[in-house]
Amino acid sequence: MLKCTNKTMKKHKMLLVMVSVVLFVACADKPTDYLALTPPNENTNDLIEARVADLLSKMTLEEKIGQMNQYNGFWDVTGPTPQGGDAAKKYKHLRKGYVGSMLNVTGVKEVRAVQKIAVEETRLGIPLIIGFDVIHGYKTISPIPLAEAASWDLKAIKHSAQIAAEEASAAGINWTFAPMVDVSRDARWGRVMEGAGEDPFLGSQIAIARVEGFQGDDLSKFNTVAACAKHFAGYGFSESGRDYNTVDVGTSTLNNIIFPPFEAATKAGVRTFMNSFNELNGIPATGNKFLQRDILKGKWNFDGFVVSDWGSILEMQAHGYAKDGKQAAELAINGGSDMDMESYLYVEELANLIKEGKVDEALITDAARRILRVKFELGLFDDPYRYLDEQREKEVTGKTEFQEAVLDMAKKSIVLLKNENNLLPLKNSGQKIALIGALANDKTSPLGSWRVGADDGTAVSVLEGMKAYSGNKVSYSKGADVSVGKTEFGTELTINTTDKSGFPQAISEAKNADVVVMVLGEHGLQSGEGRSRTDLGLPGVQQELLEAVYKVNKNIILVLQNGRPLILNWADEHIPAIVEAWHLGTQSGNAIAQVLYGDYNPSGKLPMTFPRNVGQVPIYYNYKHTGRPTLPGQDVVFWSHYQDVENSPLYVFGHGLSYTNFEYSDLKITVNAKERVTVAFSLKNTGERKGKEVAQLYLNDMFASVTRPVKELKAFELVDLNPKESKRIEFTLAKDELGFFNNEGDFVLEPGDFKVFVGGSSAAKLEQKFELK
Ligand code: BGC
Repeated sequence: MLKCTNKTMKKHKMLLVMVSVVLFVACADKPTDYLALTPPNENTNDLIEARVADLLSKMTLEEKIGQMNQYNGFWDVTGPTPQGGDAAKKYKHLRKGYVGSMLNVTGVKEVRAVQKIAVEETRLGIPLIIGFDVIHGYKTISPIPLAEAASWDLKAIKHSAQIAAEEASAAGINWTFAPMVDVSRDARWGRVMEGAGEDPFLGSQIAIARVEGFQGDDLSKFNTVAACAKHFAGYGFSESGRDYNTVDVGTSTLNNIIFPPFEAATKAGVRTFMNSFNELNGIPATGNKFLQRDILKGKWNFDGFVVSDWGSILEMQAHGYAKDGKQAAELAINGGSDMDMESYLYVEELANLIKEGKVDEALITDAARRILRVKFELGLFDDPYRYLDEQREKEVTGKTEFQEAVLDMAKKSIVLLKNENNLLPLKNSGQKIALIGALANDKTSPLGSWRVGADDGTAVSVLEGMKAYSGNKVSYSKGADVSVGKTEFGTELTINTTDKSGFPQAISEAKNADVVVMVLGEHGLQSGEGRSRTDLGLPGVQQELLEAVYKVNKNIILVLQNGRPLILNWADEHIPAIVEAWHLGTQSGNAIAQVLYGDYNPSGKLPMTFPRNVGQVPIYYNYKHTGRPTLPGQDVVFWSHYQDVENSPLYVFGHGLSYTNFEYSDLKITVNAKERVTVAFSLKNTGERKGKEVAQLYLNDMFASVTRPVKELKAFELVDLNPKESKRIEFTLAKDELGFFNNEGDFVLEPGDFKVFVGGSSAAKLEQKFELK
């Protein structure tokens, strides 16, 4: 095993730095112009660079390639040694030092067993980096990322990532495949639940918060993990919202909408990237030099490593890009993928490709250097067992502090969509409440999709949460099943489309109640990877149930649990109160109950537009003007519209109500000499309750050399206000916040006329113009 004490490290530091520089030059001695190698590192410390270089100098080509090979957990590591098949092969490779990383091995005992083989049985004893999808928590589950985004609360989001890192690292995990920073505008795509929604600015802020939360200020601390910005790039734009589908987007969208959150993650110091399954403009992302070498490792100077998505190197064959596995490996490494997740191709093909002169060995050294660098940063070389303390695992998993944090996050993620006649909040006593819907009594669904580490049945259901308020009589009836299905990888999900046998009981409970709370929506496993939908209504017979109950009692509070925007026209027209409660994680039922009872005043705002009709999708607030915008009051055919539904969405991006009301006034804009623009306005809580408002600022660059969206979010602030309190809010926009990327990919700022809008959603009405000279 390689060990380097602090003392020896200091002594040899200078020498090692020199070795490192020489080696870097040596490794890059056959540079091909398009190949961005690891940039000489100014950010990470020289000592790590030197240690990496020293180690590289001792490694064979096969061992370097081994670092680029990642295997899925393959056998019960603490059980008997595998004798045949894939598992035996993986085991053999592990012992030879031909595996650099494993995913889906979790828990101290299991991780220790694989790490021990890598560290104690291989020639150089290079530790593995253990990866896992800690997407919104490990065992203690936070709201799905889209829901967290609805909080617009960067501090809370960062904290949520922090506790996920703490719990996961205590289970031996070093690296999470998160955050997903794909901007997405199409609710048909099941993976919108994993990201921060449709806006590049909000998405960038959240990307930074999540990276900082996972990685902390020091990656070598035992409670931090390396983060991974994924999926690079364009995955959120799969045609027709069908997962894995083709992506074809123009330069302007790529530069101004898709790239910003990735660039923000890079600037925040994210240590890894994952590429994506999709092709982008004809080239699969995994073999895409433009994305990975020119942009990421070139223009953005990213010095961490890129992992492929699961099997995505092999999939380049199915894309019709590589004729066989060997060519796929060649295209992937030349394209900039450093680590092969489960394609088995780097380990099989790279050495031959080098012999044949098809791949430059410098690229292998570069990829290994990037991977080793992150392992050093994690402190794995100082003590490969540092994350493997069973006592700590026991103490940390599910601890009270985490429960409190995910409860807080869950409350902040709830969006009040509608609240007619102040039906909400509920009174604390003296009411008969009929709670209806299978999801109300479900302890698994609220965990949502991508919560692979959590155990089924560990969420607090709405029924349990509501029962904590004992002043009211709560009856429960299911009404209709949403689904049968056990785990992420278990029983297939089946949706009830016909069985209405539960209707009569639900209707009779509703008849006798003062208020009906209906919990409807999607099962937690109805969104996520591979779960695209073309119908965005309430699945199964839930809509019929809602309408049937409405006939006997109109006092309905509709609580939605879902992983994506749904079509809610009927509900919006008829149901007085609608609460968007997503999949809120472990503390779901408590959070919902506390909001319904007004112990917590909701402040969430939608991070994605809710359409009126699937035919409007993709629909987003930052759209472009057409040459034929709305012609108000004119009964003409030839303008950009639909014949059957209006252009506007049902709920706009940024929408969300509170139990109090807010008023915006006195907008004042000052442009100063340094091209800074100050936007000031007053925000008043006009209601009777304390509340929090997400004040939003949007900009429109009215005329530009590349047309700009009708509105772009440029700033926001969470403002706490007591009843009748008023505050003056001020935002300052710097020069680079007024510019955009042109079609050459250059950032430009053009003088001219701009409009500013401020308000509580993207439909902000208070507006003013200014000119930038
Ligand atoms: C997903 C990734 C994920 C990986 C590993 C893939 O199917 O696209 O987001 O990190 O699997 O589980």
